Amino acid sequence: MILKTQYHEKGHSEFIFCLYILHLFQVWWVWEDYTLDLWYHCNSTGCYDIPNSATVDAAYLQTVQATMILATILCCVGFFVFILQLFRLKQGERFVFTAIIQLLSAFCVMTGASIYTAEHLSFKEKHFEKGDYGYSFVVAWVAFPMTLLSGLMYLVLRKRK
Ligand SMILES: *[C@@H]1O[C@H](CO)[C@@H](O)[C@H](O)[C@H]1NC(C)=O
Repeated sequence: MILKTQYHEKGHSEFIFCLYILHLFQVWWVWEDYTLDLWYHCNSTGCYDIPNSATVDAAYLQTVQATMILATILCCVGFFVFILQLFRLKQGERFVFTAIIQLLSAFCVMTGASIYTAEHLSFKEKHFEKGDYGYSFVVAWVAFPMTLLSGLMYLVLRKRK
């Protein structure tokens, strides 16, 4: 009975977390007539590569891209481990490994979001400087505390039982 609830809880949180991660590939920066994600900028005529994103000047942008890709990979690994554990779990064992991978993934997201916050003007083209943070940015900052909370609660509750 307890085990079944655990499947639900952990599987659910892992699933929601991966959905969160997908949103990180959307809008990071918005202004009246353009939006930016980490790879492209879009305006009314279409979407284009971010200018100079492959050069040394954009090293911070590349770092943010890398942390988001790493977070995505970790979230997939976490899901995979969760599925594996479903089959191998004995009574009393918990999804500690899944929880830890999820925390690592959230940590990557937070690192990327911090770099973006601190450095986004340094890698943005002049004409993109006007604007506001988009919802992917907000999701990135919300994802970390939520995951930290759910991960810690999971680990703490586990000790109590
Ligand atoms: C959209 O972006 C492209 C590439 O930066 C630019 O050439 C084009 O003029 C822009 N279109 C509008 C309507 O701003």
